[in-house]
Amino acid sequence: CRIRHYHFNVVVKNATKLCSTKPIVTVNGKFPGPRLYAREGDNVLVRLTNHVQYNVTIHWHGVRQLRTGWSDGPAYITQCPIQPGQNFLYNFTLTGQRGTLLWHAHISWLRSTVHGAIVILPKKGVPYPFPKPYKEKVIVLGEWWKADTEAVVNQATQTGLPPNISDAHTINGHPGPVPNCSSDGISIGPYTTRVPFDHNCKNRNFLRFVNADAHTLHVETGKTYLLRVINAAVNDELFFKIANHNLTVVEVDACYTKPFETDTLFLGPGQTTTALLKADQGIGKYLIAISPFMDTTVAVDNLTGIGYLRYNHTLAFTPTTFVALPAVNATPVTSVFSDSLRSLNSKQYPANVPLTIDHSLFFTIGVGINPCATCFNGSRAVAAINNVSFVMPTTAILQAHYYGINGVFTDDFPAKPAIPFNYTGTPPSGLQTMNGTKVYRLAYNSTVQLVIQGNTIIAPESHPTHLHGSNFFVVGRGVGNFDPEKDPLKFNLVDPVERNTVSVPTAGWTAIRFRADNPGVWFFHCHLEVHTTWGLKMAFLVENGKGPNESIEPPPSDLPKC
Ligand code: C2O
Repeated sequence: CRIRHYHFNVVVKNATKLCSTKPIVTVNGKFPGPRLYAREGDNVLVRLTNHVQYNVTIHWHGVRQLRTGWSDGPAYITQCPIQPGQNFLYNFTLTGQRGTLLWHAHISWLRSTVHGAIVILPKKGVPYPFPKPYKEKVIVLGEWWKADTEAVVNQATQTGLPPNISDAHTINGHPGPVPNCSSDGISIGPYTTRVPFDHNCKNRNFLRFVNADAHTLHVETGKTYLLRVINAAVNDELFFKIANHNLTVVEVDACYTKPFETDTLFLGPGQTTTALLKADQGIGKYLIAISPFMDTTVAVDNLTGIGYLRYNHTLAFTPTTFVALPAVNATPVTSVFSDSLRSLNSKQYPANVPLTIDHSLFFTIGVGINPCATCFNGSRAVAAINNVSFVMPTTAILQAHYYGINGVFTDDFPAKPAIPFNYTGTPPSGLQTMNGTKVYRLAYNSTVQLVIQGNTIIAPESHPTHLHGSNFFVVGRGVGNFDPEKDPLKFNLVDPVERNTVSVPTAGWTAIRFRADNPGVWFFHCHLEVHTTWGLKMAFLVENGKGPNESIEPPPSDLPKC
């Protein structure tokens, strides 16, 4: 095993997209940020220096951080922010994981531009459990706002209204063909006048977009490529498709899967999918396209992000082959994709699904409205788990727990809703959300079954929920209300997919299981940043065990102070 050193300098850089320029917060001046490469078992050291006027933290999304929760990164959960002019050394070891993950800022909405890929290769000499690809390509999907994203979120929290949606989706930082800024005269944006969502990608005349700011993936005929696709978007679950090409999924969230073939990938923000692409089509140029999934009535980001797959790149111009994307509300496509995912569950990579349950939890999640005297229309959007909307503390919970500081959090997070109701029907009237900084306490090595039930208090919505500090097994999912008698009989306890982020279906439920073998404080939240902002978050506190390797390590001496 090696030690991998990285320097992350957080700096402001001007970026021009969609014909306008704005300063953005970046790592090392890059958007997307630098890639982190390592092998399973390596020790990663990232020295972060904050040169901007905002507080910063970085989360290594999906990295287990076994006993090193101090390096996990969510602001005010595991660490106080790194203040302007300060630095901090993130120090962690990649234990028992291989595949694709992402890192991102974990404070306010800085992750819109502060994110990048993590590639964990197998240990030296250990092959992939699938045919060795000719080359590997990293594809980071994102969103782009013409406005400053900190201004977008501040305005939303002050008015109580939903924040403005993004102006584009990006592939490795590029939105795809946009008009020639100087001469075309077409303007993309603002919000109301944007190019409409175009599932067939045909309505835009690609030939006239001479200043195409698009990502191109170059391939050679007959070769197989490993695509590491990452959804780093802030507020959108995304479909990903390449014209005329199928993909063979082999890994999600740094866990190997049984290979399966599909023409469409579906990724919630924070999720990763690694797939084999065979360049087996005729020489030419094919569209790569991404589009949002949102099965709801609320405003959606309606722009398609476009890139190109290009064969044998020495060739002169060839016409583009178009791609038909799923509709914005194509729930069946998301279900087929989710249902196709299975753990590889081989001798070498077994699925260790907990078969007994110490804690049986039921969380209902969703968005509601609370009165707010100072807000527009006298109300504000809130989001909650079991009707508790999480309030960020001003001291990190992990520190408060470690040093026994009272008054920062309480450990009375409800294991189930106080008043059960018809979660996917008409909600009880006057249901008001309470506020609190509550955690749920788990004994070391206890096992958890958590049923996450989407509710429809305002509108049904799909929620990509993420657990820090542990992967979990997705043992079941369904539509409507979870039935505690019948549904568990159908759980897959043999080869369920293992991941760190799961999309809870629209007006439906998902059941996960995990073992609390990582002492520390672990954030659990919807990875749609808009919902996190509104309070759809909580934390698990996993106690220390008794054995020598069953406690969190002592905090690093340079841990920032609040
Ligand atoms: Cu990728 Cu708590 O987030």
